[in-house]
Amino acid sequence: MKTPPPGRHLAPSLLSADFAALGAAIAAVESEAGLLHVDVMDGHFVPNLTIGPPVVAALRRTTSLPLDCHLMIEAPERLLAAFAAAGADLVSVHQETCPHLHRTLQTIREAGMAPGVALNPATPVESLSVILPEIDFVLVMSVNPGFGGQRFLPLALDKIRHLKEMREARGLSFAIEVDGGVCGETLPALVEAGADWFVAGSAVFGAADARRAARELREALVALP
Ligand code: DX5
Ligand code: ZN
Repeated sequence: MKTPPPGRHLAPSLLSADFAALGAAIAAVESEAGLLHVDVMDGHFVPNLTIGPPVVAALRRTTSLPLDCHLMIEAPERLLAAFAAAGADLVSVHQETCPHLHRTLQTIREAGMAPGVALNPATPVESLSVILPEIDFVLVMSVNPGFGGQRFLPLALDKIRHLKEMREARGLSFAIEVDGGVCGETLPALVEAGADWFVAGSAVFGAADARRAARELREALVALP
């Protein structure tokens, strides 16, 4: 299992890349990325279908970046062993899909992966209060999951601030990841709120030059106070 070192990191999301040329997409952004975000959708929890463990295994052969698999799927526990075998490093499950969240997170860790929990925009951070010590990262959705290129929801900012306060008050060390509508315009407020990992799909792979877009976002992450 490989996880990013402490600090701010760009996590390019392959959802907006050319699915027929994922290797080239990764090569373009690899030097700017701290982790690679892989959006797994099942057509049930979210109204879209994307990729699964076989593609993750192929990605594993093309990059040494940590693979950050965001599972937007019902009953994710069914596929955790398959993602571990495929070479996933970090796995986030949605709070809304896990009635036995503690058990699911334990299973992820026992499979050798770093466990995270993703929160839909309407799900409060307080829902994680009990489980926070078991979590390596929290993924705050700043759009409703399912598609790239949606408009950023500012309600995520208060959730990030609140999580950061909970982390400090309790002496915990989980990372805060934000996903949805991350771009040059929204980055400063997200940094100020206290996010650590910044998922960017359309802002990177929707740009004419993905390499340059990723570089500019990473440089902004370094430069912002
Ligand atoms: C949406 C996915 C995101 C998506 C973000 O459900 O979880 O990771 O790729 O796309 P942008 O950055 O375009 O909002
Ligand atoms: Zn995602």
